[in-house]
Amino acid sequence: MEKFVVETSPNLEGSLRVSGAKNSVLIIMAASLLAEGECVIEDVPDLLDVHVMIDLLRSLGSEVNYDAQKEQLRTRVMDATITDASYELTNRMRASIVVMGPLLARRKRANVALPGGCPIGARPIDLHLKGFRRLGVNVEIGHGSVEGVFEDHMIGNNIYLDFPSVGATENILMAATLAKGTTTIENAAQEPEITDLASFLTKMGAKISGAGTSTIRITGVERLVGVRHQVIPDRIEAGTYMIAAAITKSKIFIDNVVPTHLRPLISKLEEAGVIVTPQANGLVVDALEGYTGVDITTLPYPGFPTDLQAQFMVMLTVCEGLHTVRETIFENRFMYVNELMRMGAKIRIDGSSAMVKGVSHLEGAQVRSTDLRAGSALILAGLVATGTTEISEIYHIDRGFVSIEKKLQGIGANIRRVSI
Ligand code: UD1
Repeated sequence: MEKFVVETSPNLEGSLRVSGAKNSVLIIMAASLLAEGECVIEDVPDLLDVHVMIDLLRSLGSEVNYDAQKEQLRTRVMDATITDASYELTNRMRASIVVMGPLLARRKRANVALPGGCPIGARPIDLHLKGFRRLGVNVEIGHGSVEGVFEDHMIGNNIYLDFPSVGATENILMAATLAKGTTTIENAAQEPEITDLASFLTKMGAKISGAGTSTIRITGVERLVGVRHQVIPDRIEAGTYMIAAAITKSKIFIDNVVPTHLRPLISKLEEAGVIVTPQANGLVVDALEGYTGVDITTLPYPGFPTDLQAQFMVMLTVCEGLHTVRETIFENRFMYVNELMRMGAKIRIDGSSAMVKGVSHLEGAQVRSTDLRAGSALILAGLVATGTTEISEIYHIDRGFVSIEKKLQGIGANIRRVSI
């Protein structure tokens, strides 16, 4: 077991590089199940979740070689007859459900044990299943698994998503690439990771238009082939470091960022008085003059990302005034608030809203990560808290952040990983 020990770190400076996007790479790895021939994926971050997906692909008959040094992953389907994804693997990561679309498309059957993952709400998969059913798949849930089968072909159809779910959009998009005819996904998620997936699939030979908008049209093709693809930078990792600069009133350069992917955060930081300057391949965050508080509401992209909600909340805990954080994506994403309150933050939760009353400072304490993004938020809190903050259960953080302590040390933060 390990923990992070964080000391007050007032003046961060220098630069750091953002890794490839976890939420893109996991889905692109799943999409490799659709290909005939080898897929080469570049900028694959060395994360726990990536290793779970490697194990899952291997269990489904793929040969996978991952070079963590080069951040390159090569994968090729060797046995396309396996259609069952075991609970042992899917329970380690909720995103495992996205193998269902590719398995159905290429193998005409899928049996996926219902997943676990971050404990941040019910996280149902009804929209994924609604989509598959609309494509003619017979879907049944039982004994902790979901099974899909169909005869002959999936048939393209119009699918309206009641909510623009990222995972459902990805799963249906992948399933539809090899279906007969045209599928239209309405009220589709518009996250940059959807566009990245569509660009990977298009290189493989898929016919897709509208990815990145709320209506995606897919015309099924006979086969998809292996290709090379570089995943987009991780906007949530980038955003976390941008907030680290803001909260410590520092100026840093963040390399490997697509500023348009971070538009909602940049807009809020600017509203708070932080200067964000896009540069070639990255951006400078300048908070040397400090910042004021602002309210945020999480929304599907291009709204403010729920995956940056906890980090932004930490910023608000130490600025004057009363501010509101509204969470509209997940119903249970304030679990970390108790930990922040143990550090002296003043926060009142009322349903899906949190009222934050700024305090002069946070105090170091022993806290535990309750989920992946909240864990990174506690590190940010530790950077500005007086004294020492010890964060346990950091495996959550390791699921989604590459060497977070090393990257922060590189810009002058006082953080150590310690075995316990
Ligand atoms: C993805 C991201 C996650 C991010 C989330 C929202 C990955 C691996 N994870 O998760 O980091 O926080 O998008 O940006 O990419 N819902 C339903 N029915 C469904 C599916 C979802 O009601 O069938 C609900 C969920 O319970 C949740 C909301 O829709 O309240 C958003 O979920 P979704 O967009 O599907 O998130 P994920 O794809 O799971």
